[in-house]
Order: sequence, then C-alpha cells, then structure tokens
Amino acid sequence: MSDKPVLVVTRKLPTVVEERLQRDYHPKLNPNDRLYSSDELVGLCDGASGMMPCHTEQLTAEVIARLPASIKIIANFSVGVDHCDLDAARKRGITVTNTPDVLTEDTADMTMALILAVPRRLVEGERIVRSGDWSGWSPTWMLGHRIFGKRLGIIGMGRIGQAVARRARGFGLSIHYHNRNRVHEEIENELEATYWESLDQMLAHMDFVSVNCPHTPATYHLLSARRLKLLQPHAVIVNTARGEVIDENALTQVLQSGDIAGAGLDVFEHSPAVNPKLLALDNVVLLPHMGSATFEGRGDMGEKVVINIQTFVDDHTPPDRVIGDKF
Ligand code: DGY
Repeated sequence: MSDKPVLVVTRKLPTVVEERLQRDYHPKLNPNDRLYSSDELVGLCDGASGMMPCHTEQLTAEVIARLPASIKIIANFSVGVDHCDLDAARKRGITVTNTPDVLTEDTADMTMALILAVPRRLVEGERIVRSGDWSGWSPTWMLGHRIFGKRLGIIGMGRIGQAVARRARGFGLSIHYHNRNRVHEEIENELEATYWESLDQMLAHMDFVSVNCPHTPATYHLLSARRLKLLQPHAVIVNTARGEVIDENALTQVLQSGDIAGAGLDVFEHSPAVNPKLLALDNVVLLPHMGSATFEGRGDMGEKVVINIQTFVDDHTPPDRVIGDKF
C-alpha cells in the first residue's frame, strides 16, 4: 500500500492528466467513464483524502454529509461549482476548488459560433447539403439575418462574458451587459460596453442575448417566462453557461410561437435530457455541452486540479479555492 494520498477521480480524464496523477498520488481512476451513483461515489471515497469530481456528479448536502471524514478536499475538474453544495462542504470543513480562467477563451469561441450559427442558419444549411436535397443557389433561399451592426446583450460580465464581448466587437456588434455589479470603467471603455442595471430593460432592446453567468440560487430561471416575453420577435438567445438559468419550457414555447427568432444552446436544464419539442424546431442549434471541449483546455484544467491538490497537500491555500477556512 503506497502512502501517496488517495484521490477519487470520478470521470475518465485525458491520459496526460491521469499519468500526472499516477506519478504523485494514488488515484482511483474511472477508465470506462461510467457515471457513478451517489452510493458508489461515497463508497469509493472510503480511505481517500480527496475527490476530483466533474459537474456531472451531484454533490448534494446529503451526499456530502455521507462522505467519510478522510475526505478533506473536493478539487473540481470544472469551473462551475453548482453541482456541489458549498454550505454542506463548509460545514464538513472540506476545501472546494475549481478551474477558472482556462475555459474562458474556448467557451467564448463556442458562444460566438452560436451567435453566428443561429441567425445565419449554418446547421440548417449543412443538413440540406448532406441530405442531397440542395438543387442550387437561389437569390431568395436560406436567407438569414445580418450580424454586423446589431446589439448583443451579455448576461454575466465575468471572464467569459468579457471574452465574448471582445470577439463580438470584431463582428461589428455593439456590447450591452447586465451584471450583479457594474464592471470597472476601464473594462467598459475597452469594450465600449453599455451597462443596464435593469435586465428587463436590456432584454427588450437586444437583437442577441448571451447567457454567461453561473447558475446560483439567484440566477435559477433568471430568464423566466415573463422575461422571455420581453424579447423582440427577431431576438436570438445563446446559452453556453448553465441550462438552469433559462426556464427551458418557457423558452421552447416562445421559440415555437415565433415570439423570438431562435436559440443556440450548449446547455440544457435537465442535461443530458433535451426537451423533445426543442429537437423538432429548425430555429435552434443544439450542442452537447461542448463549449470548453478542447484538448488544450482539458489539459489545462487537469494542471489546475493537480496544482490545487498539491498546494493543499503541502498545507498552503490552493490558488483556486472556492471555500475552505483551514488556511
Ligand atoms: C465547467 O467546467 O463548469 C464547464 O461547464 C464544463 O464545460
């Protein structure tokens, strides 16, 4: 039996990350990438010092309460921590870390891809070419809507929101945002961004809306049925953050009724389940939560997790500590 710290790794990670873990720790890996039940997860943690979950593991208060006392750190392989009951972890004295920054540019790229794909009907066009039904160019066929000169409203002007804004400016979009707090003047000036204290007001004036805020109790169904009705009929919504921020049933209804023009969704409220009515719509582009899915990003996430664990093991404050009062 080695005296290296035992870590429960809940999902299959890139080989380079797993090799790195094997060098310095005793990781309990998941080579088949099977989703563990809560009972299995708790059982696997027996004798382990830490856990490396992804956002796919629901670490509810009940699960955290059942973790063995040996678990001292939950080092998330994710930037989002909404899957993890932080109060419960705090009560148990467990340190929680995440992987900020390294997903920012990739997620912003995917957001921009959706902002382009929906109004310009990219996926619909691609489907037609593959189906063999394309009979040639026509001046009035497959018309979409221009991106240049339109207004983009960003909900959540953190790192990812700002990275989206930088890209969007290159496409000639004017930047508007709603955020818990107004961002620093320097950033507003750089992005020529207009702050809207009232989300309702902003929604009513935008051509495109991008959701880039985390899912917290305060942002759950932030885009409610009432708010979705404030959007203009030509508006397009893009969500690469978390499905729970939008009331997915209400969104499906406004898309079906034509009260808004379209949506680009990389995340879903009951992921991986997707509302079957969304699947039937042409004015939506649906992706399987792949905003941060790059080889580079996953490698960088692994590096971050390892650094967080190692600093914790060395009795220092992990750089990406979300909670943990030990230090
Ligand atoms: C995260 O890490 O929270 C992302 O959603 C994964 O893509």
